Amino acid sequence: MSDSNVKIFDTTLRDGEQVPGCKLNTDQKVIIAKQLDLLGVDVIEAGFPVSSPGDFKSVEAISKIVKHATVCGLTRSVENDIKVAAQALTYAKNARIHTGIGTSDSHIKHKFKSNRDAIIERAVSAVKYAKSFVEDVEFYAEDAGRTDNDYLARVCEAAIKAGATVLNIPDTTGYCLPSEYGAKIKYLKENVKGIDKAILSCHCHNDLGLATANSIEGVINGARQIECTINGIGERAGNTALEEVVMVLKQHPYLNLDTNINTSMLYGMSQLVSDSMGIYTQPNKAIVGANAFAHSSGIHQDGVIKNRETYEIIDPKDVGVTESAIVLTARSGRAALAYRAKHVGYELTKIQLDEVYANFLSFADKKKEINDNDIHQIIETSNVYQQIISA
Ligand code: KIV
Ligand code: ZN
Repeated sequence: MSDSNVKIFDTTLRDGEQVPGCKLNTDQKVIIAKQLDLLGVDVIEAGFPVSSPGDFKSVEAISKIVKHATVCGLTRSVENDIKVAAQALTYAKNARIHTGIGTSDSHIKHKFKSNRDAIIERAVSAVKYAKSFVEDVEFYAEDAGRTDNDYLARVCEAAIKAGATVLNIPDTTGYCLPSEYGAKIKYLKENVKGIDKAILSCHCHNDLGLATANSIEGVINGARQIECTINGIGERAGNTALEEVVMVLKQHPYLNLDTNINTSMLYGMSQLVSDSMGIYTQPNKAIVGANAFAHSSGIHQDGVIKNRETYEIIDPKDVGVTESAIVLTARSGRAALAYRAKHVGYELTKIQLDEVYANFLSFADKKKEINDNDIHQIIETSNVYQQIISA
């Protein structure tokens, strides 16, 4: 693995599926897993096998069909969880058990009614037990975002000594600022003995809208895996959006960080997940929203028609969107109208355009968006229609 390569760990089918009302059946999960494998993700977290017979069945079915990615199952630091996850992963070409425990004082005190040393012991036992089934064991320190760095370093050191190959540092509650999360990763890189034997992983939640920024700060500071979901779906405000972190790294090559993702599949992947789960992405969602490559104000449209790069930093084709959209509204100018009229078969002279544009504005003031049928109607009812069609 080159040092610039950032592994993409997709948890759409586990953390993503925790969205209320979005439960998928095994067949739907298998279809998504196949596409994730083609997309080029490095790890697919397929589920939490002990949580229900249905989840077990899905993890098993996904393990059988995935060709390239590592298939991962989540567990708590509980022996039975780990044993069941190992069973569900039996058929995986590359299997990973993802085990862990809460490490913040809040989790230790309220969830476990325990103490810091006892939590380390449980973490170590879980990693060692998982290691008796698979070589690849990822350890998560739940609520690491609110765990004090000294103690977190002790937990990580113990997990590596017990055999963990990946250390997941979740900002479970989406609390950290990017600078804080980046400093946490840096601190672990510099203070955990044996850190070179493991990959640090960013797992960020979006409660303050910072999941993408935090994950990027994490990899800038030495993490080499990002845990994310398609469309950023997940508990509460969701997880880091896969399409966002992948495109941030692609659009900023000077960071010298890359992924194995085939970005031209991103839009299709987003549609598949939102259709399967029945959650529609907001139109202004970065990269995959309906308006991500749509231009509606006259000034922007004029710029984009002259040269796409004036108002677009990503070529839509790079993410699987066929082309930028010029949306006609009452804020649009003549350039946009001429452009769209040409698409539906009318080549307008400057004088004809002036005439048609006046008619267009009175239509557009009554309607939110002008579609291709409206353009025909606008042209047919303009004073210069006969002149246009006889040209
Ligand atoms: O957010 C979180 O802490 C998690 C862990 C279970 C990995 O999803
Ligand atoms: Zn999570």
